[in-house]
Amino acid sequence: MQRLSPALRQDNVPEDLISLIKTILAATKEISFRVSQAHLGGLMGSTLDENIQGEIQKKLDVVANELFKDIVLESGFVKAISSEEEDTSVAGNPVGKYLVSFDPLDGSSNIDINSLIGTIFSIHKAPEDMDPSNPDMFKQSGDHQVCAGYVLYGPATMLVMTTGKGTHFYVLDRTHGGYLLVHRNVQVPTDTQEFAINMSNQRFWQEPMKNYIKDLIDGDTGPRGKNFNMRWIAAMVGDIHRVLCRGGLFTYPTDSKNPEQPNKLRLMYEANPMSFLIEQAGGLAMTSKGRIMDIEPTSIHQRVEVIMGSKNEVEACLTYYK
Ligand code: F6P
Ligand code: MN
Repeated sequence: MQRLSPALRQDNVPEDLISLIKTILAATKEISFRVSQAHLGGLMGSTLDENIQGEIQKKLDVVANELFKDIVLESGFVKAISSEEEDTSVAGNPVGKYLVSFDPLDGSSNIDINSLIGTIFSIHKAPEDMDPSNPDMFKQSGDHQVCAGYVLYGPATMLVMTTGKGTHFYVLDRTHGGYLLVHRNVQVPTDTQEFAINMSNQRFWQEPMKNYIKDLIDGDTGPRGKNFNMRWIAAMVGDIHRVLCRGGLFTYPTDSKNPEQPNKLRLMYEANPMSFLIEQAGGLAMTSKGRIMDIEPTSIHQRVEVIMGSKNEVEACLTYYK
């Protein structure tokens, strides 16, 4: 099996970006270890603090954020970072070439039940002419990402990453401590009979989503003429990983549960990196109004509607909005 650096060189990834990716992966190996030892090390449960999103932080959220932030900032490769757990961006090396946005531990509600969690990251080029403390540097669409990926802390610690030359799977080999390529050019099946949505929000969805999901549930007796299965891991990393492995439609639609917050998932460190991975694997990543990676961000923590996965199924869903 191929090691990470030769696999990246095969895709003509520049050496400085390879170095940054290796730095990020050093942080994920440390997080993977801490996650596996959390019960033993007093790292379960919540802190007493809220993050900028108004969510109570878990102890592991904080540990993962500090590890990732410190290792990446110390490397000198980045001009600034932004994180789900930081109020605003954090300045790094003024001549650093890259910007990294990340969700240090996605799926926080799974931490205490020893279920799937992961780290999501997205890399952009840093504008040369802007101050490293200016968060406006991050206002770049998903189409400008030079790399995106996640590390899933599951039964195997897996890296799923793209630099724009396909989406590849790697597994952390603990015998030598590095990630090995296990699947080059993953393809999301075009058709699917599986969907992922938090059904408990049904009464808050907009009419098009209500109608679409009703038709899926009606199965072979409804207009779709086939049965659908449902899965919900409650960690985007887990649900998107399943979609990349065997297809499916994943959505967190706009809802009216909390009128001040019509969308749940964050553009910069959840929707954009996952969109890059899904599109590079032949899937679609949309809102009901257009492509996610076309969105020009207005703020670091902005939220967005997400409908992504198998191409034909995403298109089928979008016809309900027309
Ligand atoms: O980070 C937000 C997140 O935890 C995603 O990983 C996941 O897909 C979603 O929220 C779960 O939402 P809910 O709590 O509604 O199931
Ligand atoms: Mn998250």
